[in-house]
Amino acid sequence: MPNQPVPDPPFAEGTGLPWDVSVTDAVAAIAAARARHGDTFAVHSGPDRYLFTFSPAGVESFYGLPEDKASKGVADYLMLRRKLPDEIFDGRRILPGTLFRRDDVSGYLANLNRALDETTAELGSTGTVDVFDLTRRLGHRMGLASWAGPGSAHGEAFEQLVRAFDILDGSDAFVHPDAMAAVAASGKRAERAALDVVVGIVADAVCRRTDGQSLFDRIVDAWRDELGEKRIRGIAFDVALIHIASMSNLAAALGWAVVDLVEHPTYADRVAAGDAELAQRCALESIRLAQRSIMSRAVLSPVELDTGDVSYQVPPGWTIATLLPLLNASAATGLAHWDPDRWTRHRLADEKSLPSPMLVTAFGHGRHSCPAQPFSLSAMTAAMTHLCSRYRLTPGWATHPRPVPAQIGGVARADGPCMLSYRQPLT
Ligand code: HEM
Repeated sequence: MPNQPVPDPPFAEGTGLPWDVSVTDAVAAIAAARARHGDTFAVHSGPDRYLFTFSPAGVESFYGLPEDKASKGVADYLMLRRKLPDEIFDGRRILPGTLFRRDDVSGYLANLNRALDETTAELGSTGTVDVFDLTRRLGHRMGLASWAGPGSAHGEAFEQLVRAFDILDGSDAFVHPDAMAAVAASGKRAERAALDVVVGIVADAVCRRTDGQSLFDRIVDAWRDELGEKRIRGIAFDVALIHIASMSNLAAALGWAVVDLVEHPTYADRVAAGDAELAQRCALESIRLAQRSIMSRAVLSPVELDTGDVSYQVPPGWTIATLLPLLNASAATGLAHWDPDRWTRHRLADEKSLPSPMLVTAFGHGRHSCPAQPFSLSAMTAAMTHLCSRYRLTPGWATHPRPVPAQIGGVARADGPCMLSYRQPLT
């Protein structure tokens, strides 16, 4: 049993997180605890101990925590291992954080443009499609072409990888936390079988490879000192973890950006006409409102969290956390509605109205902020412009789609189908 923080924080009795107890709306449960106990409080959930903070000083202190004492890497691992087999984390040589060298990004964007053309061919000139299915398939196609080797983004290999990665989706750990007990009970059998499919297809890609400078080539090169099965599984697991990381947020974020644009046709027209700067602001605004992220740091050695009124010494074994959906839309008045004009480039124009600029974010603050932000915004801009300029888009929903209520982490997934009708104008 871990020690307590000093001094004792208020304790939100009866509040649990959805991995451990049945919770209808995970974000609402933490909001209720905050309403009862104030901006900083402790939650005991199953075997875990959390110190949540929402005060301006607390959130600033959170983003400044040193990785060696309060680790985001360890917190992410503890979250993802609820879903993914342990072997996928062992001995990785090329990690998702190394994806975004300047030359890499131009390659990914070229693959995105090809994936957009293939999407147009698949869609045909008129029809109906689920927005989030569309953006997810696009993300798979762009990502697999970028880092899974030759042949992985086409034909039967692509379809098999899509099915495998839909099973191996690490974001299930926070999108459907209530399903993790069943995953544990199954011994992750389905996930292991899916990983074997990935290994088989990546093995073929290694055989087809010609030397180059792509991310896939760098991964293959990192395993050149190994032979046979060990080499192939090492390469395939690197590819798998990178692809799983890329699936966490980007496709869902693009889905919400499309949803918001079709609900605001004047902005959609301007994006269709090529206003890329506006498209980026629309993307940031949609992400801000769709954020369901729990930001967490696993305490490895005693660390201080200054929450303004009180400074806590937090012992190892605790997790320090904050929750973006309880800040992003309410840290100042007027933040509840979608308005891309509140952004100046990547910052809120009216940051001074916030008690701290760190209370609102799309891609995080400080040392762990998202290394994929420039790439993600460019990719979203290209995709939004492509879709809005080629099709007349009509929403099939009558009210703004709702997020999955149990979700606690990442960008929201929609709780149900979001059907979109599309039609290419006659030329
Ligand atoms: C619109 C899409 C995306 C959004 C909204 C987003 C959001 C975020 C946020 C909020 C954080 C900070 C989390 C924290 O401080 O605890 C983060 C970190 C990170 N993101 Fe993204 N992300 C996106 C796309 C991606 C993509 C495509 C990748 C590719 C694999 C990626 C890789 C990472 C990595 C590796 C980190 C950790 C950085 C570190 O620990 O230093 N992200 N992201």
